[in-house]
Amino acid sequence: MSVMEQTKHVSVMLEEVIEMLDLKQGMIVVDATLGGGGYTQEIYKRIMPGGTLIACDQDSDAINRFKEHYPEIAKDILIVHSNYSHIRKVLKEHNMRYVDRIVADLGLSSDQIEEGGRGFSFSGDNIIDMRMDRSKSLSAINIVNEFSEKELADVIFLYGDERFSRRIAKAICDKRPIISTKELADIISKAIPISVRKKMKMHPATKTFQAIRIAVNDEYEHLKTFLTEGIDVLQSSGRFVVVSFHSGEDRVVKNIFRTNARGCICDEGVPVCCCEHEPVVQFLTKKAIKPSEEEIARNPRSRSARLRGVIKK
Ligand SMILES: C[S@@+](CC[C@H](N)C(=O)[O-])C[C@H]1O[C@@H](n2cnc3c(N)ncnc32)[C@H](O)[C@@H]1O
Repeated sequence: MSVMEQTKHVSVMLEEVIEMLDLKQGMIVVDATLGGGGYTQEIYKRIMPGGTLIACDQDSDAINRFKEHYPEIAKDILIVHSNYSHIRKVLKEHNMRYVDRIVADLGLSSDQIEEGGRGFSFSGDNIIDMRMDRSKSLSAINIVNEFSEKELADVIFLYGDERFSRRIAKAICDKRPIISTKELADIISKAIPISVRKKMKMHPATKTFQAIRIAVNDEYEHLKTFLTEGIDVLQSSGRFVVVSFHSGEDRVVKNIFRTNARGCICDEGVPVCCCEHEPVVQFLTKKAIKPSEEEIARNPRSRSARLRGVIKK
């Protein structure tokens, strides 16, 4: 009998991602974010027999769910519980140095958002946790209750792009200790002026919850390491494809891809190039690809998705 429910996650931009990956039988592919396993299953069909698929997730629930519901695929692939920032180490542990394709679909799965006990969502009333990897000790409880007012304001501003960051941080500090998601969401909402709140299309706590989640999981640092090491372990003509879900995440992806796609990296103002730097990758499309209107109507969670890809020189 099944212990874990089937995934609730609907893969985002699946067709576009698979097309951009341009998979062939026998390839070595890393799916850095297994989640509900939607990408993994499509990649598997295209590279087997003869291919090698490494599927990674830092959330052990995602891994256990996939193994339970897709045992036939799970026995043929390498499923690794790890942060994607350890990509080089993971490959080394499996005696691999280079791969043909890497894909990552960033952020949270619907399973994580909808499972109350994880404390990611402000709908419902749960303990504020927000750890993707529950073997780590730092959770949202620590950040909300132990960070100084300034540290909190900085997190909310930098990772949430929230213009009321200082007011929210002060309101949080005034009301500590805070344990539940509902309590936290109410405090954040009330800290935003009512005239602004009335005009908001999203829940007033959306940006602050996102910011705290990014801090809990140290998402940008892991993403930067992953992108840099990922480009390094790609074969020549290998492809790296990433789907991001908010502007901060997309900026990190765009900047690291752009830096690696640049020729000269001399300081501005240097009259003649002296760095002799060669581009390492080339963009597969000029601009990020967005989901179709049809997909957004079918799966509203896809609306902010942005797809970018590069090919190694
Ligand atoms: C949007 S879901 C992936 C969905 C998947 N592509 C599918 O089609 O079902 C994102 C997954 O990435 C995982 N994740 C996020 N950041 C990670 C990281 N730094 N290292 C490893 N896994 C990560 C999350 O735990 C989550 O399960």
